[in-house]
Amino acid sequence: MSIGLKTEERVALVTGGNRGIGLEVCRGLARQGYRVVMSGRDEANLRHAKVDLAAEGLKVDTIMLDVTDPNMVEIKHGANVDGNFIGDWIRRKYGRLDVLVNNAGVVPDETGHDEPVSIVDTARSAFELGFETHFYGPLAIIRGVLPMMREQNYGRIVNVSTGMARLSSIQPGWPAYRATKVALNALTALLGRELEGTNILVNAASPGWVRTRMGGDNAELTPEQGADTILWLATLEDGGPNGGFFANREQTDW
Ligand SMILES: NC(=O)c1ccc[n+]([C@@H]2O[C@H](COP(=O)([O-])OP(=O)(O)OC[C@H]3O[C@@H](n4cnc5c(N)ncnc54)[C@H](OP(=O)(O)O)[C@@H]3O)[C@@H](O)[C@H]2O)c1
Repeated sequence: MSIGLKTEERVALVTGGNRGIGLEVCRGLARQGYRVVMSGRDEANLRHAKVDLAAEGLKVDTIMLDVTDPNMVEIKHGANVDGNFIGDWIRRKYGRLDVLVNNAGVVPDETGHDEPVSIVDTARSAFELGFETHFYGPLAIIRGVLPMMREQNYGRIVNVSTGMARLSSIQPGWPAYRATKVALNALTALLGRELEGTNILVNAASPGWVRTRMGGDNAELTPEQGADTILWLATLEDGGPNGGFFANREQTDW
């Protein structure tokens, strides 16, 4: 069933893996010997990223995956793995999935304003894009791969969130980005409770302010630094934390 997998080789799927923090997560997992499936929505970008990693001696597999495309992530024929494109594809090709990093992200809010744009002035379409990317997409991918994790009683799921979604210190501005990442945090906490007692650990990570296309040139951290907590959560030992929100490898308030 599995194609060219070495015994006990762990398989990791990363969304939005072609650049920024996601690329760094792919690099870090490949360095640690994972069979990395780098996913992204543009074939040429994926190819370039794969070539860059190959130049460092790192081999990754690629798959086109737009997390907002229902044909790719939704379940078609009821609540089982049949009919979930990405779940089926992983199962057919590898027979297992050990790590899922829901990294793909967008800032759906209008930018370039001096004053923060109010939540009440924010278009419904901005919230829709945010929820598609940060909530429905990750939820649907989890639905597709969770049966494999349950069968092997092993799984590490990392939802890449942001300190901007911390409700305990929420600020105005970027309301669609913040609110939809809060939804991702809720998914993390709820699923974490449901998975208690299993060896499937699901956590949210705040990478910090990172120099990527999203974070901009003035950000404090390199992509490698931004990927650190994500990689740590993706490779947790058995008995590690579950259902929490982490920054700098430490639990933080929601
Ligand atoms: N940079 C920061 O300071 C910062 C801070 C806190 C949290 N984060 C979070 O970290 C994650 C990665 O961000 P980044 O800074 O690396 O941003 P980035 O450089 O803009 O990269 C975003 C990635 O997400 C992908 N993506 C967007 N929409 C997608 C979709 N519908 N389907 C599949 N892939 C999609 C992009 O693909 P394309 O190349 O096709 O556009 C790209 O690979 C995001 O979830 C972001 O919210 C970033």
